[in-house]
Amino acid sequence: MTKILRIDASVRSTDNSVPEYNSISRALADSFVDQWKQAEPNVEITLRDVGMNPPDFISNDWIASVFTSESDRTQEQKDIVALSDTLIDELDHADILLISTPMYNYGMPAALKAWFDQIVRINKTFTFDLARGDFPLEPIMSGKTLVLLTSAGEFGFAEGGPREGSGHLSAHIQTLRKYLGAERMFEAAAEYQEFADQRHEASVAAAHARARDIARQLAP
Ligand SMILES: Cc1cc2nc3c(=O)[nH]c(=O)nc-3n(C[C@H](O)[C@H](O)[C@H](O)COP(=O)(O)O)c2cc1C
Repeated sequence: MTKILRIDASVRSTDNSVPEYNSISRALADSFVDQWKQAEPNVEITLRDVGMNPPDFISNDWIASVFTSESDRTQEQKDIVALSDTLIDELDHADILLISTPMYNYGMPAALKAWFDQIVRINKTFTFDLARGDFPLEPIMSGKTLVLLTSAGEFGFAEGGPREGSGHLSAHIQTLRKYLGAERMFEAAAEYQEFADQRHEASVAAAHARARDIARQLAP
């Protein structure tokens, strides 16, 4: 049975009384899951809704705690890293990481960044060894697949597009994915939300079709 960890990062829900206010990225994730379930109805899905319940930001004490060996941690330090432990366990358990997220200020929402800060952690998701020279960090996890489903108000962030170089959402996650143990990454992106025109409609439809295609390709 496949284990999917679904991380939703939009602060918008999908049940607003005005449909235009509904989250597009969450709807893309719904399409992905719906398609997957057609191939594997009993797929295990864990939802981590960082959009609605943002993880804590890391702190001075959090850093001190993670750099203290597990056996030496005080109860207070154990409590400080408890959320991080839980989030890392969820990650470790998953085969597929499904991240649905809006673009906010040309990058990822703060809540999703807080999630990454909680899980990219020494001796849990990466090791650090200066004997490796200029690249001392190495990921611990492996073998996972990342599916990234995004929505943006503007458009043209991909290579060759009019905003190439100013979209840091997918690029940032592409850089981080190795610390998730994600050896491959698939993407679907809806754009033009702020224009609310024909291009938006076409972009959302294409992104749903792409999300379903990815599910068809990956599902057993
Ligand atoms: C706080 C905020 C910042 C945003 N910043 C950007 C941006 O930098 N670039 C962009 O293309 N769209 C931006 N948008 C538009 C969202 O990406 C767009 O509305 C998207 O559909 C939101 O995802 P959702 O529908 O899943 O909630 C922003 C929206 C909000 C609320």
